[in-house]
Amino acid sequence: MKKTFIIANWKCNPTTLKKTKTLFDSIKKQSNKTKKGNNEIVICPPLVYLPTINAKPTNIKLGAQNCYWEENGAFTGETSPLMLKDLKCKYVFVGHSERRKYFNETDEKINKKIEAIIKAKMIPILCVGETKEEKKQEKTQQILKTQLKIALKGVKLKNTKLCIAYEPVWALGTGKACNPDEAKKINLLIKKIITQLYNPSIAKKLPVLYGGSVNSKNANAFIKEACMDGLLIGGASLDAREFSKIISSI
Ligand code: 13P
Repeated sequence: MKKTFIIANWKCNPTTLKKTKTLFDSIKKQSNKTKKGNNEIVICPPLVYLPTINAKPTNIKLGAQNCYWEENGAFTGETSPLMLKDLKCKYVFVGHSERRKYFNETDEKINKKIEAIIKAKMIPILCVGETKEEKKQEKTQQILKTQLKIALKGVKLKNTKLCIAYEPVWALGTGKACNPDEAKKINLLIKKIITQLYNPSIAKKLPVLYGGSVNSKNANAFIKEACMDGLLIGGASLDAREFSKIISSI
């Protein structure tokens, strides 16, 4: 049975350690009551909270929202993949649109990060997606092709795990999620691009996730109708009840 990924991106929230612990404990409690099936539940808190979160004795996995590509050295303010691995992180986001927009994360930098994350034996979650303007100009296909081609340049995927998340920028935090039919087309498009860059067997195995205004009402449609392998959840993951409802709706 294929795994379904349910990934919480807390972004730059909550603002205190106390609130973070309360949120995590309540997700833990709710998720213990919820049938998880073959779901892989991942929480990605702000980096500073990673060591304070105790995921045991649950099956919840930890992820990071960002990392640098060097292992150590004079890089003030950065966090290396080795540090994240040491904190029991299993996943790391790369190329989230907020990092592309506010922190100048280019496709070339994303490529270096992916290599470094894989080297540290973690799983990169590569986020791709078009802006509202690019969608209007019917450039989605071209944008996804470029983002995937540069981000994966030289990356060997044969025995390596990687997830791709389609996160249309216009759907993030807007309450206007992508239509599941449209998401299904993009899912197929991503598989086609991966087939061109690698081969059909790698494309078949690669999980493709959806993110952008997911809630407990629309979550199931992205899995069942759009055939996505999982979800990236921002706002709704800051509410333990809503997050658990999403888990049980799938
Ligand atoms: P929202 O669920 O708040 O739209 O955010 C999605 C997201 O950015 C996940 O990475």
